[in-house]
Amino acid sequence: MGHPVLRRQADTIEDPTSPDVRLLVRDMLETMADANGLGLAAPQVHVAKRLVIFHLPPSGNVQDNSEEMPVRVLVNPTVEALDDEREDGWEGCLSLPGLRGLVPRFQRVRYRGIRPNGEIVDTVAEGLHARVVQHECDHLDGILYPMRMTDLSTLSFESEMRHTADG
Ligand code: NI
Repeated sequence: MGHPVLRRQADTIEDPTSPDVRLLVRDMLETMADANGLGLAAPQVHVAKRLVIFHLPPSGNVQDNSEEMPVRVLVNPTVEALDDEREDGWEGCLSLPGLRGLVPRFQRVRYRGIRPNGEIVDTVAEGLHARVVQHECDHLDGILYPMRMTDLSTLSFESEMRHTADG
């Protein structure tokens, strides 16, 4: 947080199928796996391009019924809310290590993007799936989750939350 690349508008990728994109995706997959994250946006590895990756772990690890989903790579993604309904949920971010906050997000969205093989993705998502997409695409516009929070008093260190949960 605070790095200029995380605050700027990321650039559109001219050729989603270029070898540069594949290299960037490989780098991001490693970073996401190392950090055990649900998603990652290119600005988080200091590349100001419109590229996000995300996945959903097998259910049991998630707080809602979103289905497990293998890693999805989206070049130049767009997200639109399908209605006004929002839901609060806990989020963390690899760019704000150790922190969690309660963030309102649209419950149902439609998102589109291009895969590095040129295929178009056009999906309706809800719950955690919709939340992860909104979080990652926000990074492309320089928005970090605390900027979406309506109650900053919920911004907490994970270590303190564990302490609370443990009593
Ligand atoms: Ni993030």
